[in-house]
Amino acid sequence: MTQQQCVPSHVAIIMDGNGRWAQHRNQIRAVGHRAGLKAVRKIVTYAASIGVKVLTLYAFSSENWKRPSTEVSALISLFIYALNREMKSLNKNNVRLNIIGDISRFSNHLQNMIINAEQLTKNNSGLVLNIAANYGGRWDILQSAKKITEQVVNGHLTLDDITEERFSLEMSLYNLPEVDLVIRTGGDYRISNFLLWQIAYSELYFTDILWPDFNPSLFDEAIKAFNTRERRFGGIDDKEQTC
Ligand code: IPE
Ligand code: IPE
Ligand code: MG
Repeated sequence: MTQQQCVPSHVAIIMDGNGRWAQHRNQIRAVGHRAGLKAVRKIVTYAASIGVKVLTLYAFSSENWKRPSTEVSALISLFIYALNREMKSLNKNNVRLNIIGDISRFSNHLQNMIINAEQLTKNNSGLVLNIAANYGGRWDILQSAKKITEQVVNGHLTLDDITEERFSLEMSLYNLPEVDLVIRTGGDYRISNFLLWQIAYSELYFTDILWPDFNPSLFDEAIKAFNTRERRFGGIDDKEQTC
């Protein structure tokens, strides 16, 4: 990374292409997911080292349950394996881990692991690592709407209290800086129900590289592209813009 590059505070990644990576090697898709985990390790370490404050990774969407049960099981086993294996070193590296998504659909065992991992790292002050698991952007908006509605029904909020700010407080990632940059690997140009509300003004970067092949220098490429963007947020050319 060259010094003059501005490092985005919050980067979110749609880690796509594991299955194709494996298929190109005549391997089963689970092999691609395992290779994807290696790329995750490298990118987490690198992002922390260059000063990214928050990294949000899309690991399993609310629609990924549609896949064959063997693949779903392989993905969940890998998640359990990664939590078991990585927690100590994440904690040692001062990483704060959060899982976003509807974890109630996971086994009690996995739910407990998630709660323990979050608990273990909750006071860490380094990189915030959010893993989106059984996450859907529509689910996120809906769960926020339900919580708000409950408070209206209970008389704790009035209709006029429901502002964008109030609504945001119930959304995932509410306590973190806005998402600056979304990277999608794997060659498709879509959001696939990842963060919807939260990426209203994020910069989007798409690459054909399959996720297991993604690496720190490709991450730098994405940051370089981010640095060429002029973010206006609906206003006009703002020369004061800082990173
Ligand atoms: C992304 O890779 C990982 C998950 C969705 C869990 P894919 O498994 O979607 O890989 P492709 O897109 O089929 O290559
Ligand atoms: C998006 O990839 C979800 C994750 C990376 C976890 P998909 O492979 O599920 O997306 P689609 O189906 O191509 O839109
Ligand atoms: Mg895919």
